[in-house]
Amino acid sequence: TWTTGNIVEEQVAAIREQVGDKRAICGLSGGVDSAVAAALVQKAIGSQLTCVYVDHGLMRKGETEQVEKDFVAATGVQLKVVDAQERFLNALAGVSDPEAKRKIIGREFIRVFEQAQLEILQEEGPAVAFLVQGTLYPDVVESGGGTGTANIKSHHNVGGLPDDIEFELVEPLRQLFKDEVRMVGQELGLPDEIVHRQPFPGPGLGIRIVGEVTKDRLDLLREADAIARQELTAAGLDREIWQCPVVLLADVRSVGVQGDGRTYGHPIVLRPVSSEDAMTADWTRMPYDVLARISTRITNEVPDVNRVVLDCTSKPPGTIEWE
Ligand code: XMP
Repeated sequence: TWTTGNIVEEQVAAIREQVGDKRAICGLSGGVDSAVAAALVQKAIGSQLTCVYVDHGLMRKGETEQVEKDFVAATGVQLKVVDAQERFLNALAGVSDPEAKRKIIGREFIRVFEQAQLEILQEEGPAVAFLVQGTLYPDVVESGGGTGTANIKSHHNVGGLPDDIEFELVEPLRQLFKDEVRMVGQELGLPDEIVHRQPFPGPGLGIRIVGEVTKDRLDLLREADAIARQELTAAGLDREIWQCPVVLLADVRSVGVQGDGRTYGHPIVLRPVSSEDAMTADWTRMPYDVLARISTRITNEVPDVNRVVLDCTSKPPGTIEWE
């Protein structure tokens, strides 16, 4: 019979069989899939696994600490954290176009990750042969259902490495749907904040600042986002709302009145959506008093923000993210 315990046992055995006494590397994003995949592989092969977390500085408040402290405490994984915040900020300087930002973030991410792989390989020797990925069943179906060695990601040639070193993929979540992945994560004792994390885009807050991404703007958006998340959680709305992007309109200013005088600040957009799969979505009719609390707190506590607006657009025509 099918139980979460069975899945864990089965996958642990399969991973041991596949990896043997070799070494594996897993990139952590802060999301559910990579965390559960890493935890499974850790359970199977322990210290033969090294995880890599690229801190690009585009995460929300507390998320990097969640990976560095809580995830490590829960699993005991060996973790290499790469602080690449400056690098990402420099690469994003002067860039406002959404697609350009996405491309830059993706490109820098791969470069930093490959550099980290190279360093691990130099430390551990060429016995590192496996790359863990949190591919889910829907991803497998979407990409044509081939085996792990048939698609383009499977022979992951790493830049700067000798030609004869290739990574074989370990994909312990290939047969699972998202809700099953969460159950496995729970079974493995991962923190609730990771297991029940709502979707968050890879490019992070970089695509939630409409305009150029700067350190100050990121800090400001992080504060506003943390307030919105706190209030949504306090109101018990986390499971009802699919996700709620908080967006800074950095290139827009409007007139306000705060304290003793006139201000000329930025708006923050709240984008709460209800959805089954993110393909379509409706804006969430959330309680006015929760909106009021979020609005009051953000305008009181976040400097340079003097207005909070609600995005009441469904998808289509609006996408969930603003960029
Ligand atoms: P959109 O904005 O297209 O988003 O309606 C649909 C869902 O995908 C998430 N999203 C991303 N996830 N990398 C990701 O891992 C990305 O580049 C990315 N862009 C959007 C978004 O948060 C929503 O859940």
